[in-house]
Amino acid sequence: MSTVLQASSRQFVSTSFTTQIVTRAYRYLQSGYAIHLRGAAGTGKTTIAMHLAGLLGRPMVLLYGDEDLQSSQLIGSQSGYSRKKVVDNYIHSVLKIEDDLRQSWVDSRLTMAAKEGFTLIYDEFNRSRPETNNALLGVLEEKLIALPPDSNQSDYVRVHPNFRAIFTSNPQEYAAVHPTQDALMDRVITIEVGEADVETEHLILTSRIGISPVQADAIIKVVRNFRKFTHQYKSSSLRACLMIAKICFEHNIPTISNSEDFRELCGDVLLSRLDHTGDQQEVTTEPSPAELLTRILDRLDLVPQI
Ligand SMILES: Nc1ncnc2c1ncn2[C@@H]1O[C@H](COP(=O)(O)OP(=O)(O)O)[C@@H](O)[C@H]1O
Ligand SMILES: [Mg+2]
Repeated sequence: MSTVLQASSRQFVSTSFTTQIVTRAYRYLQSGYAIHLRGAAGTGKTTIAMHLAGLLGRPMVLLYGDEDLQSSQLIGSQSGYSRKKVVDNYIHSVLKIEDDLRQSWVDSRLTMAAKEGFTLIYDEFNRSRPETNNALLGVLEEKLIALPPDSNQSDYVRVHPNFRAIFTSNPQEYAAVHPTQDALMDRVITIEVGEADVETEHLILTSRIGISPVQADAIIKVVRNFRKFTHQYKSSSLRACLMIAKICFEHNIPTISNSEDFRELCGDVLLSRLDHTGDQQEVTTEPSPAELLTRILDRLDLVPQI
């Protein structure tokens, strides 16, 4: 099992949009602060966090927010037993057996990163309950980790000076996320990650998928216009664009109005998303989302790039 990852920035696309976020975040990290990237799903938060970890040049440890995560697990836990048995039969008439059974303590990823001076990425940390994240307060402020007495180690461990933490979160109106804790927010610098601009989206599609600029234009047009007319603001358009682009590229599907394959693909990706983005689309709205998509695809050449 590999717990520590080496970040790779090979696939990261830099544009003025990403650069201004990365420059600010990197500056704060260099001065020793933890940073928090907040924004809608699919705006590139996790990707930027990993890129920053790569710039810091230290090994990186990833942790995902989870409703069921316990505070004790964030620090470490007792895991399994170690047994030591000594059979002493040196004097053959005397048999001495020492049997020692101990629980073994295993540091969590947070404790390991803090001790060793690695970069911790705590992705979607507000999916964990706020009280679970209390363990982080001491790590960020006093630079100390308090280990439970049964860990068989000294009670307090000093945080390594190279330890850095990068948090990401989705805004609070998302399902299954908790309100972020004031005490924690007070100890980190939060950067709002807005929706990527068209230039960034375009470059990600052409350089990561390999489709042509004309195809990227068409896909971005369809996805952005559809989102605008169906009032979906909670998720960004990037993931949907990437899905459509990858399938068009790998299956030679032309991104034009009269390609039935393209129309079906856009319908499959975009219409199904309406139920999952958490945006409340009025059932009674006219025209229906399917009808809206048909209209956008029919007039692909006339639809503005937004
Ligand atoms: N700057 C970027 N360079 C390359 N790919 C990116 C970039 N930003 C986002 N992506 C891609 O877009 C998708 C969504 O990004 P992700 O970081 O997972 O968003 P979030 O964490 O905000 O939900 C991923 O497939 C990711 O690879
Ligand atoms: Mg993410």
